[in-house]
Amino acid sequence: MSARLRILVLISGTGTNLQSLIDHLCTSDVPAELVGCISNRNAAGLARARAAGIPGEIVLPGDYPDRGQYEEALQDSIERRRPDLVVLAGYMLILGAQFVQHFRGRLINIHPSLLPKYKGLDTHARALAAGDRIHGATVHFVTEELDSGGGLIQAVVPVQPGDDTRLLSARVQSAEHKIYPMAVEWIARGRVHYSSGRVYLDQKPLTKPVRIEFDID
Ligand code: GRF
Repeated sequence: MSARLRILVLISGTGTNLQSLIDHLCTSDVPAELVGCISNRNAAGLARARAAGIPGEIVLPGDYPDRGQYEEALQDSIERRRPDLVVLAGYMLILGAQFVQHFRGRLINIHPSLLPKYKGLDTHARALAAGDRIHGATVHFVTEELDSGGGLIQAVVPVQPGDDTRLLSARVQSAEHKIYPMAVEWIARGRVHYSSGRVYLDQKPLTKPVRIEFDID
C-alpha cells in the first residue's frame, strides 16, 4: 500500500456519501486520496467528482454483451487507477462473485439498515412497517452474499413518531455522512484489517460493528 490510501468510489446516484468523503479528505490530514469515481450510468454524483478534480468515468452495462463482461471491464477501469480501497457509495448494481473475490478485503459498502436486519431494498419502509424504535446504517466489507460481509461501523438513529420514509431516510443519510468518512479514515490510518472474513480494529477482532448513536432531528 502506498503512503496515502488510494480510494476509488463507485456510485449510481446523487453522490451525497461521495461528497462526505470529498469534504472529509479535503479538510483533514487523513493519509488518503480519491483517485477516481466510476458510475454505471450518468449519475448526478459525477458532477461532485468533477468539481473536486477527481477523474470520473461511466462504464455502461449496456455496452457489454453480458454481466460478466461488464464486470470485467469495470474491474479493469478500477484497476487502472491502482486503488487500495474501493468504496461502494450508493452503487445500485449487485456485483458478481468473481468481482467481489478479486477485490476481497479492499471493497466496502454502506447499507441503510442495522445489518443483519433488512438486507436488500426498501430498508426504511421495512423498519417503519416493523415499528422499530431505532434504525440506521452499516459500513461493511463486501462478500459474495448480499449485505452480509463483516461490519465495521454502525450508525444508530431514532425512529421518531410521525416518521415517513422521507424523514427517516434523511436522518439515516445524515448519519451515513459521518460514519463513512470515519470508516475510511480508520482504514487509511491502518487501524482496520480484514482477514478470513473477519474484521480487526486496532488488532482486535470485531464480533460486531462499532455502534455510534446519533440523535439527529
Ligand atoms: C445511501 O443511502 C446508501 O445507504 C445506499 O445508497 C444511498 C446512496 O446515496 N447504499 P448517495 O448517492 O450517496 O446520496
